[in-house]
Amino acid sequence: MATSPFRYFISLFLLLLCFEACLRVGDAKVGCIERERQALLHFKQGVFDDYGLLSSWGDAEDKRDCCKWRGVECNNQTGHLIRLDLHAPFDRMGFTQSLRGILPTQLGNLSNLQFLDLGRNYAMTCGNLDWLSHLPSLTHLDLSLVNLSKAIHWPQAINKMPSLTELYLSGTQLPPIIPTISISHINSSTSLAVLDLSSNGLTSSIYPWSFNFSSSLVHLDLSSNELRGLIPDAFGDMTTLAYLRLSWNELRGSIPDAFGDMTTLAHLDLQSNHLNGSIPAAFGNMTTLAYLDLSSNELRGSIPDAFGDMTTLAYLDLSLNQLRGSIPDAFGDMTTLAHLDLHSNHLNGSIPDAFGNMTTLAYLDLSLNELRGSIPDAFGNMTSLAYLDLSRNQLEGLQLGCISRISR
Ligand SMILES: *[C@@H]1O[C@H](CO)[C@@H](O)[C@H](O)[C@H]1NC(C)=O
Ligand SMILES: *[C@@H]1O[C@H](CO)[C@@H](O)[C@H](O)[C@H]1NC(C)=O
Ligand SMILES: *[C@@H]1O[C@H](CO)[C@@H](O)[C@H](O)[C@H]1NC(C)=O
Ligand SMILES: *[C@@H]1O[C@H](CO)[C@@H](O)[C@H](O)[C@H]1NC(C)=O
Ligand SMILES: *[C@@H]1O[C@H](CO)[C@@H](O)[C@H](O)[C@H]1NC(C)=O
Ligand SMILES: *[C@@H]1O[C@H](CO)[C@@H](O)[C@H](O)[C@H]1NC(C)=O
Ligand SMILES: *[C@@H]1O[C@H](CO)[C@@H](O)[C@H](O)[C@H]1NC(C)=O
Ligand SMILES: *[C@@H]1O[C@H](CO)[C@@H](O)[C@H](O)[C@H]1NC(C)=O
Ligand SMILES: *[C@@H]1O[C@H](CO)[C@@H](O)[C@H](O)[C@H]1NC(C)=O
Repeated sequence: MATSPFRYFISLFLLLLCFEACLRVGDAKVGCIERERQALLHFKQGVFDDYGLLSSWGDAEDKRDCCKWRGVECNNQTGHLIRLDLHAPFDRMGFTQSLRGILPTQLGNLSNLQFLDLGRNYAMTCGNLDWLSHLPSLTHLDLSLVNLSKAIHWPQAINKMPSLTELYLSGTQLPPIIPTISISHINSSTSLAVLDLSSNGLTSSIYPWSFNFSSSLVHLDLSSNELRGLIPDAFGDMTTLAYLRLSWNELRGSIPDAFGDMTTLAHLDLQSNHLNGSIPAAFGNMTTLAYLDLSSNELRGSIPDAFGDMTTLAYLDLSLNQLRGSIPDAFGDMTTLAHLDLHSNHLNGSIPDAFGNMTTLAYLDLSLNELRGSIPDAFGNMTSLAYLDLSRNQLEGLQLGCISRISR
Protein backbone atom coordinates (compact mmCIF):
# COMPACT_ATOMS: atom_id res chain seq x y z
CA MET A 1 0.00 0.00 0.00
CA ALA A 2 1.47 3.27 -1.08
CA THR A 3 1.39 6.24 1.24
CA SER A 4 0.45 9.42 -0.55
CA PRO A 5 2.64 12.47 0.08
CA PHE A 6 -0.44 14.21 1.41
CA ARG A 7 -1.00 11.58 4.14
CA TYR A 8 2.70 11.72 4.97
CA PHE A 9 2.38 15.48 5.38
CA ILE A 10 -0.62 15.08 7.68
CA SER A 11 1.25 12.55 9.84
CA LEU A 12 4.22 14.88 10.13
CA PHE A 13 1.93 17.73 11.06
CA LEU A 14 0.26 15.65 13.79
CA LEU A 15 3.67 14.56 15.07
CA LEU A 16 4.76 18.19 15.33
CA LEU A 17 1.53 19.05 17.14
CA CYS A 18 2.18 16.28 19.66
CA PHE A 19 5.81 17.38 19.99
CA GLU A 20 4.63 20.90 20.77
CA ALA A 21 2.14 19.57 23.36
CA CYS A 22 4.76 17.34 24.96
CA LEU A 23 7.18 20.24 25.22
CA ARG A 24 4.53 22.31 26.91
CA VAL A 25 3.99 19.55 29.48
CA GLY A 26 7.74 19.35 30.02
CA ASP A 27 7.84 23.07 30.71
CA ALA A 28 4.80 22.73 33.01
CA LYS A 29 3.14 25.40 30.88
CA VAL A 30 -0.26 23.72 30.99
CA GLY A 31 -2.19 26.58 32.54
CA CYS A 32 -5.36 26.10 34.49
CA ILE A 33 -8.65 25.25 32.83
CA GLU A 34 -10.84 28.30 32.16
CA ARG A 35 -14.04 26.74 33.56
CA GLU A 36 -12.21 25.91 36.81
CA ARG A 37 -10.60 29.36 36.97
CA GLN A 38 -14.09 30.89 36.68
CA ALA A 39 -15.37 28.60 39.47
CA LEU A 40 -12.54 29.79 41.76
CA LEU A 41 -13.21 33.46 40.88
CA HIS A 42 -16.90 32.91 41.70
CA PHE A 43 -15.82 31.36 44.98
CA LYS A 44 -13.66 34.40 45.78
CA GLN A 45 -16.52 36.78 44.92
CA GLY A 46 -18.87 34.81 47.16
CA VAL A 47 -16.87 34.99 50.40
CA PHE A 48 -15.58 37.73 52.69
CA ASP A 49 -11.79 37.45 52.75
CA ASP A 50 -11.01 39.62 55.80
CA TYR A 51 -7.41 38.39 56.03
CA GLY A 52 -6.46 38.58 52.35
CA LEU A 53 -5.95 34.82 52.16
CA LEU A 54 -7.05 34.85 48.52
CA SER A 55 -4.97 37.87 47.45
CA SER A 56 -3.02 35.73 44.95
CA TRP A 57 -6.34 34.89 43.24
CA GLY A 58 -7.47 37.33 40.54
CA ASP A 59 -8.11 38.41 36.96
CA ALA A 60 -4.93 40.46 36.42
CA GLU A 61 -2.55 39.33 33.65
CA ASP A 62 0.17 38.18 36.08
CA LYS A 63 -2.38 36.07 37.99
CA ARG A 64 -3.89 34.26 35.00
CA ASP A 65 -2.61 30.78 35.86
CA CYS A 66 -4.89 29.67 38.69
CA CYS A 67 -2.67 26.64 39.30
CA LYS A 68 -0.23 29.09 40.94
CA TRP A 69 -2.82 30.55 43.32
CA ARG A 70 -2.52 29.95 47.05
CA GLY A 71 -3.98 26.62 48.13
CA VAL A 72 -4.41 25.38 44.55
CA GLU A 73 -2.67 22.41 42.97
CA CYS A 74 -3.25 21.18 39.41
CA ASN A 75 -2.37 18.00 37.60
CA ASN A 76 0.63 19.08 35.52
CA GLN A 77 -0.40 16.85 32.59
CA THR A 78 -4.06 17.81 32.25
CA GLY A 79 -4.16 21.19 33.99
CA HIS A 80 -7.17 20.05 36.03
CA LEU A 81 -7.37 21.26 39.62
CA ILE A 82 -6.79 18.28 41.92
CA ARG A 83 -6.17 19.86 45.36
CA LEU A 84 -7.78 22.83 47.05
CA ASP A 85 -6.49 23.52 50.55
CA LEU A 86 -8.12 26.59 52.09
CA HIS A 87 -8.12 25.51 55.75
CA ALA A 88 -8.11 28.57 57.97
CA PRO A 89 -4.60 29.32 59.25
CA PHE A 90 -3.79 30.69 62.72
CA ASP A 91 -2.23 34.12 62.98
CA ARG A 92 0.78 34.77 65.25
CA MET A 93 -1.48 35.29 68.25
CA GLY A 94 -3.35 32.04 67.69
CA PHE A 95 -6.52 33.52 66.21
CA THR A 96 -8.16 31.64 63.35
CA GLN A 97 -8.15 33.54 60.06
CA SER A 98 -11.47 32.26 58.76
CA LEU A 99 -13.10 33.02 55.44
CA ARG A 100 -16.60 34.34 56.10
CA GLY A 101 -19.97 33.96 54.40
CA ILE A 102 -21.98 31.34 52.58
CA LEU A 103 -19.87 28.68 50.90
CA PRO A 104 -20.24 29.12 47.11
CA THR A 105 -21.39 25.89 45.46
CA GLN A 106 -19.43 26.67 42.26
CA LEU A 107 -16.80 24.37 43.75
CA GLY A 108 -18.92 21.66 42.08
CA ASN A 109 -17.28 22.72 38.78
CA LEU A 110 -13.87 21.49 39.95
CA SER A 111 -14.80 18.08 38.62
CA ASN A 112 -11.37 16.41 39.02
CA LEU A 113 -10.79 17.49 42.60
CA GLN A 114 -9.28 14.79 44.82
CA PHE A 115 -8.55 16.78 47.99
CA LEU A 116 -10.67 19.55 49.52
CA ASP A 117 -9.86 21.14 52.89
CA LEU A 118 -11.96 24.06 54.14
CA GLY A 119 -11.37 23.10 57.79
CA ARG A 120 -11.55 25.61 60.68
CA ASN A 121 -13.48 28.18 58.59
CA TYR A 122 -15.91 28.57 61.49
CA ALA A 123 -17.43 31.78 60.08
CA MET A 124 -18.56 29.98 56.95
CA THR A 125 -21.98 28.41 56.42
CA CYS A 126 -22.96 25.80 53.88
CA GLY A 127 -26.66 25.42 53.09
CA ASN A 128 -26.41 22.08 51.31
CA LEU A 129 -23.79 19.61 50.18
CA ASP A 130 -25.44 18.60 46.88
CA TRP A 131 -22.52 20.06 44.90
CA LEU A 132 -20.27 17.32 46.32
CA SER A 133 -21.95 14.79 44.01
CA HIS A 134 -20.19 16.56 41.08
CA LEU A 135 -16.80 15.63 42.56
CA PRO A 136 -16.57 11.86 41.93
CA SER A 137 -12.77 11.72 42.43
CA LEU A 138 -12.74 13.36 45.87
CA THR A 139 -10.94 11.16 48.39
CA HIS A 140 -10.26 13.65 51.22
CA LEU A 141 -12.89 16.08 52.50
CA ASP A 142 -12.43 18.34 55.54
CA LEU A 143 -15.21 20.77 56.45
CA SER A 144 -14.45 20.83 60.21
CA LEU A 145 -16.06 23.80 62.01
CA VAL A 146 -17.89 25.01 58.87
CA ASN A 147 -21.51 25.62 59.89
CA LEU A 148 -23.51 22.80 58.26
CA SER A 149 -26.59 23.21 60.47
CA LYS A 150 -28.83 23.70 57.40
CA ALA A 151 -27.40 20.80 55.40
CA ILE A 152 -30.13 18.33 56.39
CA HIS A 153 -29.39 15.90 53.53
CA TRP A 154 -25.70 15.57 54.38
CA PRO A 155 -25.78 11.72 54.70
CA GLN A 156 -27.29 11.41 51.22
CA ALA A 157 -24.67 13.77 49.81
CA ILE A 158 -21.82 11.78 51.38
CA ASN A 159 -23.31 8.53 50.08
CA LYS A 160 -22.98 9.84 46.52
CA MET A 161 -19.21 10.14 46.81
CA PRO A 162 -17.76 6.90 45.45
CA SER A 163 -14.06 7.62 46.12
CA LEU A 164 -14.17 9.17 49.61
CA THR A 165 -11.64 7.71 52.05
CA GLU A 166 -11.28 10.50 54.65
CA LEU A 167 -14.15 12.62 55.98
CA TYR A 168 -13.70 15.24 58.71
CA LEU A 169 -16.92 16.94 59.89
CA SER A 170 -15.96 17.77 63.47
CA GLY A 171 -17.83 20.68 65.10
CA THR A 172 -20.04 21.38 62.08
CA GLN A 173 -23.38 21.48 63.96
CA LEU A 174 -24.51 18.57 61.81
CA PRO A 175 -28.27 18.10 61.82
CA PRO A 176 -29.34 14.66 63.10
CA ILE A 177 -30.13 11.88 60.65
CA ILE A 178 -33.90 11.70 60.31
CA PRO A 179 -34.62 7.96 60.73
CA THR A 180 -37.81 8.04 58.61
CA ILE A 181 -35.99 9.32 55.50
CA SER A 182 -34.71 6.35 53.53
CA ILE A 183 -31.07 6.64 52.59
CA SER A 184 -29.86 4.98 49.42
CA HIS A 185 -26.33 3.65 49.52
CA ILE A 186 -25.98 3.48 45.75
CA ASN A 187 -22.51 4.77 44.77
CA SER A 188 -21.52 5.16 48.41
CA SER A 189 -17.79 4.79 49.04
CA THR A 190 -16.76 1.28 50.00
CA SER A 191 -13.38 2.52 51.13
CA LEU A 192 -14.18 5.19 53.73
CA ALA A 193 -11.33 4.76 56.23
CA VAL A 194 -11.50 7.92 58.37
CA LEU A 195 -14.78 9.27 59.76
CA ASP A 196 -14.63 12.15 62.24
CA LEU A 197 -18.07 13.33 63.37
CA SER A 198 -16.92 14.56 66.79
CA SER A 199 -18.33 17.63 68.58
CA ASN A 200 -21.73 17.64 66.93
CA GLY A 201 -25.04 17.05 68.71
CA LEU A 202 -25.47 13.60 67.19
CA THR A 203 -27.70 10.96 68.82
CA SER A 204 -27.70 7.19 68.35
CA SER A 205 -29.61 7.64 65.06
CA ILE A 206 -26.11 8.03 63.57
CA TYR A 207 -25.27 4.34 64.18
CA PRO A 208 -27.04 2.64 61.21
CA TRP A 209 -25.50 5.08 58.74
CA SER A 210 -21.97 4.79 60.16
CA PHE A 211 -22.14 0.98 60.50
CA ASN A 212 -22.56 0.84 56.71
CA PHE A 213 -18.84 1.61 56.56
CA SER A 214 -17.98 -1.17 59.06
CA SER A 215 -15.81 -3.14 56.70
CA SER A 216 -13.53 -0.24 55.73
CA LEU A 217 -13.31 2.14 58.72
CA VAL A 218 -9.90 2.44 60.37
CA HIS A 219 -10.52 5.64 62.38
CA LEU A 220 -13.89 6.51 63.91
CA ASP A 221 -14.43 9.53 66.16
CA LEU A 222 -17.91 10.06 67.61
CA SER A 223 -16.70 11.85 70.76
CA SER A 224 -18.45 14.89 72.27
CA ASN A 225 -21.90 14.09 70.93
CA GLU A 226 -25.18 13.13 72.60
CA LEU A 227 -25.01 9.34 72.24
CA ARG A 228 -27.19 7.76 74.94
CA GLY A 229 -27.96 4.21 76.10
CA LEU A 230 -25.88 1.09 75.62
CA ILE A 231 -22.83 0.78 73.36
CA PRO A 232 -24.01 -1.36 70.40
CA ASP A 233 -22.32 -4.75 70.01
CA ALA A 234 -21.99 -3.90 66.30
CA PHE A 235 -18.74 -2.05 67.08
CA GLY A 236 -17.25 -5.50 67.63
CA ASP A 237 -17.89 -6.23 63.91
CA MET A 238 -15.67 -3.35 62.77
CA THR A 239 -12.83 -5.65 61.97
CA THR A 240 -10.45 -3.07 60.47
CA LEU A 241 -10.84 -0.39 63.15
CA ALA A 242 -7.61 0.90 64.74
CA TYR A 243 -8.87 4.10 66.41
CA LEU A 244 -12.20 4.52 68.25
CA ARG A 245 -13.32 7.50 70.33
CA LEU A 246 -16.75 7.48 71.99
CA SER A 247 -15.69 9.76 74.87
CA TRP A 248 -17.76 12.66 76.22
CA ASN A 249 -21.20 11.19 75.53
CA GLU A 250 -24.03 9.86 77.74
CA LEU A 251 -23.35 6.15 77.20
CA ARG A 252 -24.63 3.79 79.92
CA GLY A 253 -24.49 0.13 80.94
CA SER A 254 -21.51 -2.18 80.58
CA ILE A 255 -18.69 -2.18 78.07
CA PRO A 256 -19.68 -4.95 75.59
CA ASP A 257 -17.65 -8.18 75.72
CA ALA A 258 -17.65 -7.89 71.90
CA PHE A 259 -14.86 -5.31 72.24
CA GLY A 260 -12.50 -8.21 72.94
CA ASP A 261 -13.08 -9.22 69.28
CA MET A 262 -11.65 -5.93 67.99
CA THR A 263 -8.22 -7.34 67.51
CA THR A 264 -6.99 -4.49 65.27
CA LEU A 265 -7.72 -1.70 67.75
CA ALA A 266 -4.76 0.43 68.85
CA HIS A 267 -6.57 3.41 70.43
CA LEU A 268 -9.77 3.20 72.51
CA ASP A 269 -11.19 6.21 74.34
CA LEU A 270 -14.46 5.77 76.28
CA GLN A 271 -13.80 8.41 78.97
CA SER A 272 -16.47 10.69 80.44
CA ASN A 273 -19.60 8.59 79.98
CA HIS A 274 -21.80 6.78 82.54
CA LEU A 275 -20.51 3.25 81.88
CA ASN A 276 -20.98 0.87 84.82
CA GLY A 277 -20.52 -2.85 85.32
CA SER A 278 -17.05 -4.31 85.45
CA ILE A 279 -14.22 -4.11 82.92
CA PRO A 280 -14.59 -7.18 80.61
CA ALA A 281 -11.84 -9.77 80.99
CA ALA A 282 -12.05 -10.00 77.18
CA PHE A 283 -9.86 -6.87 77.08
CA GLY A 284 -6.93 -9.21 77.59
CA ASN A 285 -7.55 -10.37 74.01
CA MET A 286 -6.99 -6.87 72.59
CA THR A 287 -3.34 -7.48 72.03
CA THR A 288 -2.81 -4.55 69.65
CA LEU A 289 -4.07 -1.88 72.04
CA ALA A 290 -1.59 0.92 72.80
CA TYR A 291 -3.94 3.54 74.29
CA LEU A 292 -6.90 2.84 76.63
CA ASP A 293 -8.87 5.54 78.44
CA LEU A 294 -11.89 4.42 80.52
CA SER A 295 -11.65 7.29 83.03
CA SER A 296 -14.57 9.31 84.45
CA ASN A 297 -17.18 6.56 84.27
CA GLU A 298 -18.94 4.50 86.96
CA LEU A 299 -17.06 1.24 86.40
CA ARG A 300 -17.25 -1.29 89.26
CA GLY A 301 -15.61 -4.55 90.26
CA SER A 302 -11.89 -5.17 90.21
CA ILE A 303 -9.23 -4.63 87.56
CA PRO A 304 -9.02 -7.92 85.57
CA ASP A 305 -5.76 -9.89 85.79
CA ALA A 306 -6.10 -10.18 81.99
CA PHE A 307 -4.67 -6.65 81.71
CA GLY A 308 -1.28 -8.23 82.08
CA ASP A 309 -1.83 -9.80 78.62
CA MET A 310 -2.02 -6.37 76.98
CA THR A 311 1.68 -6.23 76.41
CA THR A 312 1.48 -3.44 73.80
CA LEU A 313 -0.24 -0.92 76.07
CA ALA A 314 1.57 2.41 76.51
CA TYR A 315 -1.24 4.54 77.99
CA LEU A 316 -3.79 3.35 80.56
CA ASP A 317 -6.23 5.62 82.39
CA LEU A 318 -8.85 4.03 84.69
CA SER A 319 -9.10 7.02 87.04
CA LEU A 320 -12.33 8.44 88.49
CA ASN A 321 -14.33 5.19 88.62
CA GLN A 322 -15.64 2.92 91.41
CA LEU A 323 -13.03 0.16 91.00
CA ARG A 324 -12.33 -2.01 94.07
CA GLY A 325 -9.97 -4.78 95.14
CA SER A 326 -6.23 -4.72 94.70
CA ILE A 327 -3.96 -3.76 91.81
CA PRO A 328 -3.14 -7.04 89.98
CA ASP A 329 0.45 -8.31 90.16
CA ALA A 330 0.03 -8.88 86.41
CA PHE A 331 0.67 -5.15 85.90
CA GLY A 332 4.33 -5.98 86.13
CA ASP A 333 3.97 -7.75 82.76
CA MET A 334 2.95 -4.52 81.02
CA THR A 335 6.51 -3.61 80.25
CA THR A 336 5.63 -1.06 77.54
CA LEU A 337 3.45 1.12 79.79
CA ALA A 338 4.50 4.78 79.97
CA HIS A 339 1.37 6.35 81.52
CA LEU A 340 -0.69 4.74 84.32
CA ASP A 341 -3.47 6.65 86.04
CA LEU A 342 -5.65 4.84 88.61
CA HIS A 343 -6.49 7.82 90.82
CA SER A 344 -9.86 8.31 92.54
CA ASN A 345 -11.06 4.70 92.85
CA HIS A 346 -11.44 2.41 95.90
CA LEU A 347 -8.38 0.24 95.25
CA ASN A 348 -7.03 -1.47 98.39
CA GLY A 349 -4.24 -3.83 99.37
CA SER A 350 -0.63 -2.85 98.83
CA ILE A 351 1.25 -1.64 95.77
CA PRO A 352 2.57 -4.82 94.03
CA ASP A 353 6.34 -5.38 94.05
CA ALA A 354 5.91 -6.16 90.35
CA PHE A 355 5.76 -2.40 89.69
CA GLY A 356 9.53 -2.47 89.77
CA ASN A 357 9.39 -4.28 86.41
CA MET A 358 7.58 -1.37 84.73
CA THR A 359 10.79 0.36 83.83
CA THR A 360 9.24 2.39 80.99
CA LEU A 361 6.72 4.11 83.27
CA ALA A 362 7.01 7.92 83.11
CA TYR A 363 3.69 8.89 84.72
CA LEU A 364 2.11 7.14 87.73
CA ASP A 365 -0.89 8.43 89.67
CA LEU A 366 -2.37 6.15 92.37
CA SER A 367 -3.71 8.96 94.55
CA LEU A 368 -7.12 8.99 96.24
CA ASN A 369 -7.44 5.24 96.77
CA GLU A 370 -7.37 3.00 99.86
CA LEU A 371 -3.88 1.56 99.37
CA ARG A 372 -2.00 0.37 102.49
CA GLY A 373 1.43 -0.91 103.42
CA SER A 374 4.78 0.47 102.46
CA ILE A 375 6.10 1.69 99.14
CA PRO A 376 7.96 -1.24 97.51
CA ASP A 377 11.76 -0.98 97.33
CA ALA A 378 11.35 -1.99 93.68
CA PHE A 379 10.18 1.60 92.99
CA GLY A 380 13.86 2.42 92.76
CA ASN A 381 13.96 0.46 89.46
CA MET A 382 11.47 2.79 87.77
CA THR A 383 14.16 4.94 86.25
CA SER A 384 11.91 6.67 83.66
CA LEU A 385 9.48 8.05 86.23
CA ALA A 386 8.92 11.80 85.84
CA TYR A 387 5.56 12.18 87.61
CA LEU A 388 4.46 10.27 90.72
CA ASP A 389 1.44 10.89 92.92
CA LEU A 390 0.65 8.44 95.75
CA SER A 391 -1.10 10.96 98.00
CA ARG A 392 -4.41 10.43 99.82
CA ASN A 393 -3.90 6.73 100.52
CA GLN A 394 -3.04 4.96 103.79
CA LEU A 395 0.55 4.20 102.80
CA GLU A 396 3.27 4.05 105.45
CA GLY A 397 6.51 5.97 105.51
CA LEU A 398 7.43 9.49 106.52
CA GLN A 399 9.23 10.06 103.25
CA LEU A 400 5.85 9.95 101.51
CA GLY A 401 5.59 13.71 101.56
CA CYS A 402 8.74 13.86 99.45
CA ILE A 403 7.81 11.08 97.05
CA SER A 404 4.35 12.35 96.14
CA ARG A 405 4.12 14.67 93.16
CA ILE A 406 7.76 14.55 92.16
CA SER A 407 8.31 16.18 88.84
CA ARG A 408 11.62 15.89 87.08
C1 LIG B 1 4.28 16.57 37.54
O1 LIG B 1 3.68 15.86 38.62
C2 LIG B 1 4.37 14.71 39.00
C3 LIG B 1 3.55 13.99 40.02
O2 LIG B 1 2.98 14.86 40.93
C4 LIG B 1 5.75 15.12 39.49
O3 LIG B 1 6.48 13.97 39.88
C5 LIG B 1 6.49 15.86 38.40
O4 LIG B 1 7.73 16.34 38.89
C6 LIG B 1 5.68 17.03 37.89
N1 LIG B 1 6.34 17.61 36.74
C7 LIG B 1 6.53 18.91 36.60
C8 LIG B 1 7.20 19.35 35.35
O5 LIG B 1 6.15 19.73 37.43
C1 LIG C 1 -20.59 25.71 37.29
O1 LIG C 1 -20.49 27.07 37.01
C2 LIG C 1 -21.64 27.63 36.43
C3 LIG C 1 -21.33 29.06 36.06
O2 LIG C 1 -20.73 29.73 37.13
C4 LIG C 1 -22.79 27.55 37.40
O3 LIG C 1 -23.97 28.08 36.85
C5 LIG C 1 -23.02 26.08 37.75
O4 LIG C 1 -23.99 25.98 38.74
C6 LIG C 1 -21.72 25.45 38.25
N1 LIG C 1 -21.91 24.04 38.40
C7 LIG C 1 -21.85 23.44 39.58
C8 LIG C 1 -21.99 21.95 39.58
O5 LIG C 1 -21.63 24.05 40.61
C1 LIG D 1 -25.06 28.35 62.02
O1 LIG D 1 -25.98 28.77 61.01
C2 LIG D 1 -27.31 28.93 61.46
C3 LIG D 1 -28.17 29.34 60.28
O2 LIG D 1 -27.68 28.92 59.08
C4 LIG D 1 -27.36 29.97 62.54
O3 LIG D 1 -28.69 30.06 63.03
C5 LIG D 1 -26.43 29.59 63.67
O4 LIG D 1 -26.39 30.61 64.63
C6 LIG D 1 -25.03 29.38 63.13
N1 LIG D 1 -24.18 28.93 64.22
C7 LIG D 1 -23.13 29.61 64.63
C8 LIG D 1 -22.37 29.03 65.78
O5 LIG D 1 -22.76 30.63 64.11
C1 LIG E 1 -23.49 6.50 40.30
O1 LIG E 1 -22.29 6.76 39.61
C2 LIG E 1 -22.40 6.68 38.21
C3 LIG E 1 -21.02 6.84 37.60
O2 LIG E 1 -20.28 7.80 38.28
C4 LIG E 1 -23.37 7.76 37.72
O3 LIG E 1 -23.53 7.68 36.34
C5 LIG E 1 -24.72 7.54 38.40
O4 LIG E 1 -25.60 8.59 38.06
C6 LIG E 1 -24.56 7.50 39.90
N1 LIG E 1 -25.84 7.15 40.54
C7 LIG E 1 -26.36 7.86 41.55
C8 LIG E 1 -27.65 7.34 42.08
O5 LIG E 1 -25.83 8.84 42.01
C1 LIG F 1 -27.02 0.96 56.06
O1 LIG F 1 -27.77 2.14 56.27
C2 LIG F 1 -29.16 1.97 56.23
C3 LIG F 1 -29.82 3.32 56.38
O2 LIG F 1 -29.12 4.18 57.20
C4 LIG F 1 -29.57 1.03 57.33
O3 LIG F 1 -30.96 0.82 57.29
C5 LIG F 1 -28.84 -0.30 57.14
O4 LIG F 1 -29.13 -1.14 58.21
C6 LIG F 1 -27.35 -0.08 57.08
N1 LIG F 1 -26.66 -1.32 56.77
C7 LIG F 1 -25.70 -1.81 57.55
C8 LIG F 1 -25.04 -3.06 57.06
O5 LIG F 1 -25.36 -1.28 58.57
C1 LIG G 1 -25.82 0.06 85.14
O1 LIG G 1 -26.55 0.93 84.30
C2 LIG G 1 -27.74 0.35 83.82
C3 LIG G 1 -28.32 1.32 82.80
O2 LIG G 1 -28.28 2.65 83.27
C4 LIG G 1 -28.68 0.07 84.99
O3 LIG G 1 -29.88 -0.51 84.51
C5 LIG G 1 -27.98 -0.86 85.94
O4 LIG G 1 -28.77 -1.06 87.08
C6 LIG G 1 -26.62 -0.32 86.35
N1 LIG G 1 -25.91 -1.34 87.10
C7 LIG G 1 -25.29 -1.08 88.24
C8 LIG G 1 -24.56 -2.21 88.85
O5 LIG G 1 -25.30 0.02 88.73
C1 LIG H 1 -10.02 -14.63 74.09
O1 LIG H 1 -10.02 -15.23 72.81
C2 LIG H 1 -10.00 -16.64 72.86
C3 LIG H 1 -9.84 -17.15 71.45
O2 LIG H 1 -10.65 -16.43 70.57
C4 LIG H 1 -11.29 -17.12 73.51
O3 LIG H 1 -11.29 -18.52 73.58
C5 LIG H 1 -11.37 -16.53 74.92
O4 LIG H 1 -12.61 -16.88 75.51
C6 LIG H 1 -11.23 -15.03 74.88
N1 LIG H 1 -11.13 -14.55 76.22
C7 LIG H 1 -12.04 -13.79 76.78
C8 LIG H 1 -11.79 -13.40 78.18
O5 LIG H 1 -13.02 -13.41 76.17
C1 LIG I 1 -10.27 -4.99 99.49
O1 LIG I 1 -11.56 -4.76 98.99
C2 LIG I 1 -12.26 -5.95 98.68
C3 LIG I 1 -13.54 -5.57 97.99
O2 LIG I 1 -14.03 -4.35 98.41
C4 LIG I 1 -12.48 -6.74 99.97
O3 LIG I 1 -13.19 -7.94 99.68
C5 LIG I 1 -11.13 -7.07 100.55
O4 LIG I 1 -11.29 -7.71 101.80
C6 LIG I 1 -10.30 -5.83 100.74
N1 LIG I 1 -8.94 -6.21 101.08
C7 LIG I 1 -8.24 -5.61 102.02
C8 LIG I 1 -6.84 -6.12 102.22
O5 LIG I 1 -8.66 -4.66 102.64
C1 LIG J 1 10.12 -9.07 87.15
O1 LIG J 1 10.44 -9.75 85.94
C2 LIG J 1 11.33 -10.82 86.12
C3 LIG J 1 11.70 -11.33 84.73
O2 LIG J 1 10.56 -11.40 83.92
C4 LIG J 1 10.69 -11.90 86.97
O3 LIG J 1 11.55 -12.98 87.14
C5 LIG J 1 10.32 -11.30 88.31
O4 LIG J 1 9.59 -12.25 89.07
C6 LIG J 1 9.48 -10.05 88.13
N1 LIG J 1 9.36 -9.39 89.40
C7 LIG J 1 8.20 -9.23 89.99
C8 LIG J 1 8.24 -8.57 91.32
O5 LIG J 1 7.15 -9.58 89.46
